[in-house]
Amino acid sequence: MIEPIVLAEEKGNKFVWLSIDEAEMDKGIITNQYLLTVKDKGVLMDPGGPLVFERVYNAMQKFIKPEDVEYIFLSHEDPDIVSGLSLWLSYCPNAKILISDLWDRFLPHVGVDIKMNVIRIPIQGMQINLNGDDLRIIPAHFLHSVGNFHLYDPITKVYFSGDLGAAVFPKGSWYIIVDNFDEHKKYMEDFHKKYMANKKAIELWLKHIQGLDIRIIAPQHGAVIEGDNVRKFIDWIKSLDKIGIDLLEEELNTNT
Ligand SMILES: [Fe+2]
Ligand SMILES: [Fe+2]
Repeated sequence: MIEPIVLAEEKGNKFVWLSIDEAEMDKGIITNQYLLTVKDKGVLMDPGGPLVFERVYNAMQKFIKPEDVEYIFLSHEDPDIVSGLSLWLSYCPNAKILISDLWDRFLPHVGVDIKMNVIRIPIQGMQINLNGDDLRIIPAHFLHSVGNFHLYDPITKVYFSGDLGAAVFPKGSWYIIVDNFDEHKKYMEDFHKKYMANKKAIELWLKHIQGLDIRIIAPQHGAVIEGDNVRKFIDWIKSLDKIGIDLLEEELNTNT
């Protein structure tokens, strides 16, 4: 087990990466879960499903009481994000789910009563207050899902980027903080070409983050990008000329 890491701590806010069990590394794509605490209250980000629940729940309790989780933020609707929601709601009875207003109607299929527990995020994103801190929910549509959002804390300046910035490590390789960005980008490239929609979606996202002071990018897969590597990541994502649908025709022709 690799224990939780406090990635940033500022004025009573803590942004925490919630551990990993090495046994998960052979069970599908590796996922990162995060917790932001503002004093005694918290928001969980993309907490995941039954595969990781016990590990994430135990890690979270080192920082916050389950009843003090005010929000569960869901960047999009994939199973590695939402499949444990009914478990989470039974253990964190005061949590409200934050999800795109395009995806909330799908949650009853994982056992969630959407009349009770859901705050629907409009296409433009929104601001939410956590214990006095105004967190920003940033649109990142089609990166990769329709109805896709990120979460930014202006106090710690950590940007939770969901699947954007994800990396897939080859067998036997894993780390949680990016050291050498040039080495790391080879683990991100294929994921972004396969799972992100197109160049236009990237361009729109770049407009949404203009002016944000981002010190750390925390993705749902792969490794945390911090310091100078944040700028390198932005430059790299700008440099991807063709992704997703831009490449589809070429890919289909290759496979026939
Ligand atoms: Fe996803
Ligand atoms: Fe994911």
